[in-house]
Amino acid sequence: MLLLGTQQVNAQGHLEIGGCDAVELARQFGTPLYVVDEAAVRENCRAYRAAFDACYPRNRIYYASKAFLTCAMAGLIAQEGLFLDVASLGELYVARHAGFPPDRIALHGNNKSWQELDAAFEHRIGHIIVDNFLELEMLGVLARNRKETMEVLVRATPGVDPQTHHLIRTGQADTKFGFNIADGSAMEAVRRVLTTPGLRFRGIHCHIGSQLLDADTHREAALVMVELMQKIHAETGALVEELNIGGGLGVRYLPEHQPPDFRAFAGAVARPLRKALDDAGLPYPILSQEPGRSLVGEAGVTLYTVGAIKTVPITEPPGTRTYVAVDGGLSDNPRPQMYQAVYSCVLANRANQPADRIYTIAGKHCETDILIRDTMLPEMHTGDVLAVQTTGAYNQAMASNYNRFLRPAVVFVMNGRADLVVSRETLDDLVRHEILPDRLRPLQSA
Ligand code: LLP
Repeated sequence: MLLLGTQQVNAQGHLEIGGCDAVELARQFGTPLYVVDEAAVRENCRAYRAAFDACYPRNRIYYASKAFLTCAMAGLIAQEGLFLDVASLGELYVARHAGFPPDRIALHGNNKSWQELDAAFEHRIGHIIVDNFLELEMLGVLARNRKETMEVLVRATPGVDPQTHHLIRTGQADTKFGFNIADGSAMEAVRRVLTTPGLRFRGIHCHIGSQLLDADTHREAALVMVELMQKIHAETGALVEELNIGGGLGVRYLPEHQPPDFRAFAGAVARPLRKALDDAGLPYPILSQEPGRSLVGEAGVTLYTVGAIKTVPITEPPGTRTYVAVDGGLSDNPRPQMYQAVYSCVLANRANQPADRIYTIAGKHCETDILIRDTMLPEMHTGDVLAVQTTGAYNQAMASNYNRFLRPAVVFVMNGRADLVVSRETLDDLVRHEILPDRLRPLQSA
């Protein structure tokens, strides 16, 4: 059984998270329910930073808010002294709505709109990570019209290809993101930043992929970035003040997933980076990173209530399969469908019983929304509370209203206290933005 963060099994044999009984949480707030182990998130923020501070002199950790952003999360990240990566007007809005300090925010996006770029100036955010030449032109126009300066990082694609699902790889040459280094585009982008009035060249950025279970590609990418820094210095005289190597460190979805811990990861990236900088005779830039999943993934759990249980005959291998249907699925966790993502789970109300049976956990959408195929659990009954682990990143953030399901509530738990930070959607929310023109009203009977 995979127990994460502050999780433990209490005297009643129930799963406990942040000192709160998961069965009690399900009763109090209903299911499906996203539960965030606040102490685990805080510990991850501190440990990630400490790991890099131990082996590199100047670090900045930008939490990648796309992984999971609520006002409470923005508040927590600010309290922990981290910076914030936003990738849309909406993420910027939520961060600012929560009072996140604008100078600690950086804006991403491969097709930023005028509105997004304008908002970046308006809120006086720290800097923008530029993705393409159109954006550079737009930024030049805005800086001129507003008579203001914007700090800029140039996003480069280092051409390294990590081992992960093809939909979450971004560092390879064939990608929609950033400026290619090998064909000279990245260098050209730096030149344009340097020669565009109102733009200030601050540094370079790369992000190679997500859910990476070793440090190899991060190290490779960092070394390619040092070569780019050398070239920039040699050809323009400009120094990189901030080198951002993106996010991407993986988490445990299954017990056999073993990502390096933060210290091992930091050592494996920072030491070769320092050596490369020393060899190149370059001053150490601020080393920035944008972890999302590794800060929140394992700190999140989704609680479901078990409904129908059905055993069906199967031929491969000959026998039966038992489907346990829960009260959520695709709409609160699209990752199994999108990325063939795997998960583990715990029977929250009998966590102390031996997991000696095989079940397949199904959602309740009009799709084959299997959350977990063939997992070991104690004997299951209707009404049980099932906790799916490691749902803190890219679950609530990617939830939908498919089949007109209501998006679940979110609670933060810590030291036996549970705070509702997002309330469950209501049926009224489903029609809040709907307009029914007279000509489309259902026909009245004659
Ligand atoms: N920085 C940039 C520029 C990114 O594109 C991403 C993730 C991150 C940082 C954070 O990466 P992380 O540390 O979380 O791996 N929806 C997918 C993941 C997409 C990742 C997109 N970019 C999933 O559910 O697996």
